[in-house]
Amino acid sequence: MNARTPVDLQTSLKMDEDSNQSSNPSFDAVLSARLSRRGLLRGSVGTVGTAMLGGVALTACGGGDDAVITPVTPTETLLGFDAVAKSLADVVVVPPGYSTSVLYALGDPLTATTPAYKNDGTDTDFENRAGDHHDGMEWFGLDTAGKPSLTSTDRGLLAMNHEATTDETRSSFFLHADGGTTTLPRPASEVDKETAIHGISVVEVKSTSGKWATVPASAFNFRLTSLSENIQLTGPARGNSLMVTKYSNDGTKTRGTLNNCGTGKTPWGTFLTGEENWAGYFTRSATDDTTRGGATAKSVVALKRYGRNAGSGSRHGWESAGTADKYARWDISQGTGAATDDYRNEINTFGYIVEIDAYDKTKTARKRTALGRFAHESAAFGKLVVGQPLAVYMGDDSRGEYIYKFVSTKTWVAADANPTDRITTGDTYLDAGKLYAAKFNSDGTGDWIELSISNTLIANFATYDFADQADVLVNARLAADAVGATKMDRPEWCSTNVANGEIYFTLTNNSNRAVNSATMPPDSANPRVYADIKNGTSTQNGNPNGHVLRVKEGTVGNAATGFSWDVYVFGAESSAAPGTVNLSSLTDDQDFSSPDGLVFSPATGIMWIQTDDGAYTDVSNCMMVAALPGTVGDGAKKTLTYAATAGTLTVDTYVGKAPGADNLKRFLVGPKACEITGLCETPDGKAMFINVQHPGETTAQADIADATKYTSQWPSNAGYGAGKRPRSATIVITKNDGGRIGS
Ligand code: FEO
Ligand code: CA
Ligand code: CA
Ligand code: CA
Repeated sequence: MNARTPVDLQTSLKMDEDSNQSSNPSFDAVLSARLSRRGLLRGSVGTVGTAMLGGVALTACGGGDDAVITPVTPTETLLGFDAVAKSLADVVVVPPGYSTSVLYALGDPLTATTPAYKNDGTDTDFENRAGDHHDGMEWFGLDTAGKPSLTSTDRGLLAMNHEATTDETRSSFFLHADGGTTTLPRPASEVDKETAIHGISVVEVKSTSGKWATVPASAFNFRLTSLSENIQLTGPARGNSLMVTKYSNDGTKTRGTLNNCGTGKTPWGTFLTGEENWAGYFTRSATDDTTRGGATAKSVVALKRYGRNAGSGSRHGWESAGTADKYARWDISQGTGAATDDYRNEINTFGYIVEIDAYDKTKTARKRTALGRFAHESAAFGKLVVGQPLAVYMGDDSRGEYIYKFVSTKTWVAADANPTDRITTGDTYLDAGKLYAAKFNSDGTGDWIELSISNTLIANFATYDFADQADVLVNARLAADAVGATKMDRPEWCSTNVANGEIYFTLTNNSNRAVNSATMPPDSANPRVYADIKNGTSTQNGNPNGHVLRVKEGTVGNAATGFSWDVYVFGAESSAAPGTVNLSSLTDDQDFSSPDGLVFSPATGIMWIQTDDGAYTDVSNCMMVAALPGTVGDGAKKTLTYAATAGTLTVDTYVGKAPGADNLKRFLVGPKACEITGLCETPDGKAMFINVQHPGETTAQADIADATKYTSQWPSNAGYGAGKRPRSATIVITKNDGGRIGS
């Protein structure tokens, strides 16, 4: 979710990002990770992959994906590029020797017959166009015959999230000619566009003579929107009474996927998308608590824990557009009849990791309830070892929420790397297993605590009476409260270091972290509280700049219940106090704020950190930095001392070795008022795809008719497409000498 939402929206989002009122001690911090499927592919199919990649490296010199065809020097230096300076310009900046081009922007056609995007607010048919707010993204290679390929470098599918839309008060204003309606009821014609620009898209891309482009006529292309039919609910909560709705009387399916943020790619070749701030799209009446049985009724406790208080207005007012089911479902007020008569439970069908076969649009998507329900970001796989269970690491992005790990019951079978049926292979790994929440201890160790109905802390939890394991998974936040998981500074993406299997997590920021807070004081894994000044005037408190934490699993690997951890790097301004804020000694070429996207490249091993920032944007637009990190424990213990109401508060933390000029460098800065997010590459590492989300999101809706007042005109100012309205877009980055990105 963007960090610079207008005021009215912030009211609604705040509940999503700030609904952990539990009294867990936060002295220990939690952390969970994702082990990248890239690490998996490297490990388990390494022999095949290496051989094939070698072949590709040769053919790529004569292939189409490089602007200039020059052999890669074998002595390339990773992070050999010149660091990019911070920038407030309305352009994408990359180092000398690199090029970017816009590939796929909001509204671009996904069929041969869909008209070109006019970008004036009159376009329709978004079910056949790119959605809005491009976010996480994964590459799915295709060979010349159109079959899945692990090695193709000039043809593939991009599967990506369309998280949200730019709004000020309800209306997605760039999508409507006059900015749209901010009062209720919302017109159906506007709502129908807005529901369609959410979800995911899959689009074929191809490089011809060095020029990448989408293939609008490709039969592979498809969209899933917030209204797509027949999305299956799988795993322990399938068919549970919590899932029963008017749409699915047996609680086995729902419509659509929503607020899709981070992504993942499974070892069997499917796409994973995380549903993040879905709660704010629903409304319930002011009297709904009473209807449901009062403040202590189970469903009321659960709804509040997930940020939906009675009387909460919805983000867009979609429920107001008519009586048809596609509008009514967004009002989750309980009626007078049975659960099969209304949508009281509809919100329970959102908040999952959703598995989709990007190669085959006829396969039904699955919401994997075994992985828990929360504000999901990415899903990263741990090391892939034949005969061992899989681990999937995940974060819950709200202030004070937790890090999670899912461990599969089924152990890895090598043949599943190339299955006949990908999505049913997913059923065998992702529908049964154990879900854990992370607790970070002040001595640099941590514990994975299983969220099981047989855990007495959960079974006897005073706040909420769990009925069964399905209830534990659907209300994972409450279960993690019960076991005392560590409240984190907004866990965003996680990714696994392909070099050593350690799992990295971005903790983007936390304005609620406070020295005298009863529930969220600084702790070892979230140790900083300080004041940062923006624009010379406004003060930002808590942990405004965020940090990147990493975890090393215990000796048993994926199934470990204990780990060690430290903080790889603390975001900070280079001029900030080194002893309390700029703990990683970041320089002017390195400093960043609010890390969000995080991806290790399987080709180079480089870790790419992307920002979604609102704290340092008086100095620079959002950016992407490249890192070559070390290992957990390569730094030192550091004790921070705070003056507190109750006396002195000291916090021990563990700071990774300061990165140094050669190991951390700014690579890219985006246009104005955007977030940089999502990253994937061709397998040779020579073409990188990233997303520029919501350029110009700070534009006032009242200025819709005056393009000179838009806070960004990207990508039209980069020569892409019609109209001046800013558009979220995928760009492709190549190196002019044909080398790998980041060298
Ligand atoms: Fe969609 Fe938490 O970023
Ligand atoms: Ca974000
Ligand atoms: Ca500042
Ligand atoms: Ca994110």
